[in-house]
Amino acid sequence: MSSPTAPERTLVLLKPDAVARNLRGEVLRRIEGKGYTVVEMVQRTATRDELAVHYAEHREKPFYEGLVDFMLSGPVVALVVEGHQVVQGFRSLAGATDPTKAAPGTIRGDLGRDWGNGPQENIVHGSDSVESAVRELEIWFPGS
Ligand code: RTP
Ligand code: MG
Repeated sequence: MSSPTAPERTLVLLKPDAVARNLRGEVLRRIEGKGYTVVEMVQRTATRDELAVHYAEHREKPFYEGLVDFMLSGPVVALVVEGHQVVQGFRSLAGATDPTKAAPGTIRGDLGRDWGNGPQENIVHGSDSVESAVRELEIWFPGS
């Protein structure tokens, strides 16, 4: 029998497409329906500086400028979501990065699509590891 484990926390962002399309409630329903807990939530427009830190790993990628412009195109909702294995679990809920290929049943597969605008508009961000979550939570919820 395995031992009890501590819950994790992950950063979820409802991206500007999710906010503009009034999908906040639908995404929150999926997170809460899964059994995870939303422990912090704020809506605001990101800054170019914090996105540069958040997306530092992508700075040299061809899609970087378009990605940042998309993330600045409207407010986002930042969430701290808690639960056992929530980092991996939310990535499963979100689905594949490309919303055209994301499986039906996932947030991106059910709610996202290619709108022909250039950058991938894919509804949500979720930290990709426990280490990334710690780093990203400090950007969006400093000191929490
Ligand atoms: P996220 O960080 O937003 O949770 O997404 P992810 O891990 O699934 O994907 P990642 O590789 O970290 O990419 C970050 C975001 O950049 C945009 N992207 N566009 N080829 C492209 O045009 C491309 N690749 C990535 C997406 O918005 C992706 O979520
Ligand atoms: Mg990522």
